[in-house]
Amino acid sequence: MKIGVIGTGYVGLVTAVGLADMGHRVLGTDIVAEKIDKASQGICHIYEPGLEELLKKNLKNGNLSFHHNLDETIIASDVLFVCVNTPQREDGSADMSYVEGVSRRIAENLNSYKLVVEKSTVPVKTSMWIKKVLTLYKKNDTSFDVASNPEFLREGSAVYDFLNPDRIIIGVETERAKDILIRIYDKFRDRILVTNIDTAELIKHASNSFLATKISFINLISELCEKTEADVELVAKGMGLDPRIGPHFLRAGLGYGGSCFPKDVRALTRIGEDLGVDFSLLKEVDRINTRCIRVFVEKVKKALWILKDKKIAVLGLSFKPETDDIRNAPSIHVIEELQREGAHLCLYDPKAMDKMKRLFPEKSPQVIYSSSPYEAVQGANAMLIVTEWHEFKELNLEKVKKSMANPIIIDGRNLYNPEKARELGFEYYSIGRK
Ligand code: UGA
Repeated sequence: MKIGVIGTGYVGLVTAVGLADMGHRVLGTDIVAEKIDKASQGICHIYEPGLEELLKKNLKNGNLSFHHNLDETIIASDVLFVCVNTPQREDGSADMSYVEGVSRRIAENLNSYKLVVEKSTVPVKTSMWIKKVLTLYKKNDTSFDVASNPEFLREGSAVYDFLNPDRIIIGVETERAKDILIRIYDKFRDRILVTNIDTAELIKHASNSFLATKISFINLISELCEKTEADVELVAKGMGLDPRIGPHFLRAGLGYGGSCFPKDVRALTRIGEDLGVDFSLLKEVDRINTRCIRVFVEKVKKALWILKDKKIAVLGLSFKPETDDIRNAPSIHVIEELQREGAHLCLYDPKAMDKMKRLFPEKSPQVIYSSSPYEAVQGANAMLIVTEWHEFKELNLEKVKKSMANPIIIDGRNLYNPEKARELGFEYYSIGRK
């Protein structure tokens, strides 16, 4: 069985490498030639821990190859995983034009039975449209099946998540499609949940929106903590001890970012509207998330009063640690707000600076990129923690304090112990804690 993976973004590249590592013969393709050129040479176009090593290993053992030509990849494959992006449109809905385009090409190249598997996050009912496109454009009476197999990997631990999944959701409507997918995921047989396609599609959107809701909920609680003597970390800990709630995704901070949660929350709201179901709940989740940035910038103003011409070190630009991804990163909004106030920014991130430079080009003294956190804080009036990279947790705060103009920390990720930071002589602000 040959598996074609169409689209080699975060999900596609990890899927291609992961399936190859599970022993399958995988062909990856993408419309961006550079991604294919790089992948063929064993180079990842994204930073994802452990991915490049596995890519190289599976290129070498022959399980994995990359191809520029989509038609040839379709013709050569028995199963096609569609991993193209579904970007957000102005109205919050997902742009499905890439999925439609790929479906058409599959139809036009349908030379033998193929199983078409949606891997990208798609609105419920997408499979119905894929089926319609395949039926409309196929040139012969070759049969096909469509299935949904949403991906739950997290950036930063994508390889681990793919190879150690909590669950494999398989949405199918024929026994043939079910058998093929069960064979592909044979290793994880004990974790497979077979459903119909609508259910599988909805499981993905519902999971991401629920996790985003947990985050906004704790961020709202953190605002209440700041008005009282409560400590949000302990509130989250106390809540998380209830197994019905669980300890995960209750970290208060600057809110969720990335390519998934913001987009998926809005897409589910929109799907609800289209189908006559009121999802104001998720509108509120989104609103609270946006407010986190404002609340954080207010803290910076509370600490420094006037931001114009103040030198502010911003540590952490990626939307979360262990990735170079800056899509919907809270840092972008924080930087924009601080720039509006006329602050001078020294930015640092272990992995995401190249990507950020394209968005905020270096322009001294307004925006400077530093080669280390210590360089960024030199002469700074305040240090902001925006992403919780481990490197920042390990900083020598005494050294930091000596080189800052004013020892002020505004910690958007609750990285440090408030008492210790104050003992060292810092004016210290964090989220939902005194
Ligand atoms: C998320 C889901 O966790 C994956 O299961 C899913 O496959 C993926 O979206 C997707 O749809 O492709 P990801 O966006 O990579 O994964 O990152 P997460 O680790 O889920 O974090 C999302 C955001 O929430 C980050 O900005 C993070 O900083 C924030 N977050 C997370 C919090 O603010 N508090 C928390 O307690 C947890």
